[in-house]
Amino acid sequence: MVTKSALLYLSRSEGFKNFLTRFKSFNDVTHRFVAGEERNEAVEAIRQLNLKKISASFDHLGESITSDAATREEVSEYVRVLESINETALDSNVSVKLTQIGLDIDEKLTYENARTIVETAARYQNFVRIDMEDSPKTDSTIDIFKRLRSEFNNVGIVVQAYLYRTEKDIEELLRAGSRIRLCKGAYMEPESVAFPKKADVDANYVKLMKILLSSGIYHGIATHDENMITATKQFARERGIAPDQFEFQMLYGVRRDLQDKLISEGYRMRVYVPYGKFWYPYFMRRLAERPANAWFVVKNMLKG
Ligand code: FDA
Repeated sequence: MVTKSALLYLSRSEGFKNFLTRFKSFNDVTHRFVAGEERNEAVEAIRQLNLKKISASFDHLGESITSDAATREEVSEYVRVLESINETALDSNVSVKLTQIGLDIDEKLTYENARTIVETAARYQNFVRIDMEDSPKTDSTIDIFKRLRSEFNNVGIVVQAYLYRTEKDIEELLRAGSRIRLCKGAYMEPESVAFPKKADVDANYVKLMKILLSSGIYHGIATHDENMITATKQFARERGIAPDQFEFQMLYGVRRDLQDKLISEGYRMRVYVPYGKFWYPYFMRRLAERPANAWFVVKNMLKG
């Protein structure tokens, strides 16, 4: 039995990655969740989504970068992405992980890099979402976000329903008028900081969704869980919150049927489109969320 924690462990193993990528069929399967290694492949994937009235968020894959020069390359990539969204009139914003632009090196560097991206986005009337990573980074991510938010309106953050602290974080973030993406949380966290049981994570998700939707601010409800989606639709209906007052968000390649269904029902949908050379940890986290996906990959590898 492939367990979630084993897959999350392997998501950090360079050796296992090298083993897997020797199989052509493995590389083919990754395309289900990752648009490609190059920006133009993400542009094309987003164009196809936009044709279906689905908005998108570019995510250049890269985490835990440890040199200043590499963080600057990431910033340049995001600047180029924002320029190309502007030139091609794609319906898309961008999502950024702070470890990609320096969080493992220095907070000041990270803030300056993030500021460059957010300022560029502001120039193009676009929006930047700061992703949330594992819990040792929550405080610094929120601190940097708050500094950016005090200067710019076009920046939002992600919170994770599996963390005990999130309700309090949300209260404070809402006081600053922040736009929030609510997700369950994708990292391996100890019981001391996160609900270990899915039922508790789900209950907290619904509770936090209600707080967000009641705030009058435009938020993203990021989940593929039909129970969370049903609860959101029901709460919005009961409170007279129109479908254009919030958006659902999903990951590229996950529950495409549900993405189309929500659009056909008149809801807003944004899909997070990852691309880039450092796709491996992201891909493994997607397998960990649904170990059945791992069997799908193994079957395809055996076929290939
Ligand atoms: P859950 O994991 O309970 O899954 C519910 C159902 O959804 C499953 O039974 C299955 O049917 C389907 N499903 C879920 N994942 C699937 C998959 N990989 N393949 C196929 N089916 C799947 N996390 C984080 O820590 N920081 C972040 O910044 C972000 N950002 C983010 C952006 C967006 C747009 C989304 C949708 C998600 C994130 N996440 C994230 C990931 C998030 O925390 C979470 O790990 C996944 O969304 C899976 O949780 P669900 O809410 O889908 O529920």
